[in-house]
Amino acid sequence: MRPIYLQIPDKMPLASAGRRMSVGIRKSDNANELASRHYLYVINFKTYPQGSGKKALKLARICDSAAKKKKARVIICLQPADICISRRISIPVFAQHIDPVEEGQTTGYVLAEDVKAEGAVGTLLNHSEHKIPFAKLKKAVQICRQNKLKIVICASTPAEAKKVASLKPDYIAIEPSELIGGKISVSEAKPGVITKTTKAVRKIPVLCGAGIHERADVEKAIQLGAKGILVASAVVKSRNPEKILMDLII
Ligand code: G3P
Repeated sequence: MRPIYLQIPDKMPLASAGRRMSVGIRKSDNANELASRHYLYVINFKTYPQGSGKKALKLARICDSAAKKKKARVIICLQPADICISRRISIPVFAQHIDPVEEGQTTGYVLAEDVKAEGAVGTLLNHSEHKIPFAKLKKAVQICRQNKLKIVICASTPAEAKKVASLKPDYIAIEPSELIGGKISVSEAKPGVITKTTKAVRKIPVLCGAGIHERADVEKAIQLGAKGILVASAVVKSRNPEKILMDLII
């Protein structure tokens, strides 16, 4: 069976909210081209002003274009109000979070059903900046499954990664919280965190993030066993996000 990390679509039809199809990895003689498609590049727009509203659309188009030029698998993570951008680009959109609540008498939560209807095909859960207690995380995973949303669960340590692996997400993203938003990458400062995580979670593919800002960080992460990266500030806050993306995507 094809590993789960290859099942997240690498190319999406336009305007296909709620009915996206999985597209397999095409065969290629070009090793670099193939490598680009095997690794996953997840760009979290967070709540940065450069990644919100009209600017989110502009940045999403830049990510879309970089993905096409590099034939790479790029996913962007948007705020709930910006998820509808998915209809105007061809790369997959994830929510940054969903709440573990059902539709009904609740107020102010992010519903899986809603993000799905707006075109999200997956979500981050348990990001360092939006932690969820384990029981609620379990419920959120269950709701994502019911709504056929792909799941990336974030963890701050290998021990946490091991615990959340029991929920069988599609990916685990390891991000030491103290390195997030900085200029020293996880692969440079804490390589052991990546290798320990890949061992701890066994078959679940691992992304790594925090402080990633240049190609060498990505190459090192891949050498350490990561199947892709989760990155925010280096791309979103850059004056030239396209240049950074083209550099990061190997
Ligand atoms: O979600 C991505 C993240 O937390 C890493 O952020 O700014 O260190 O790339 P950054």
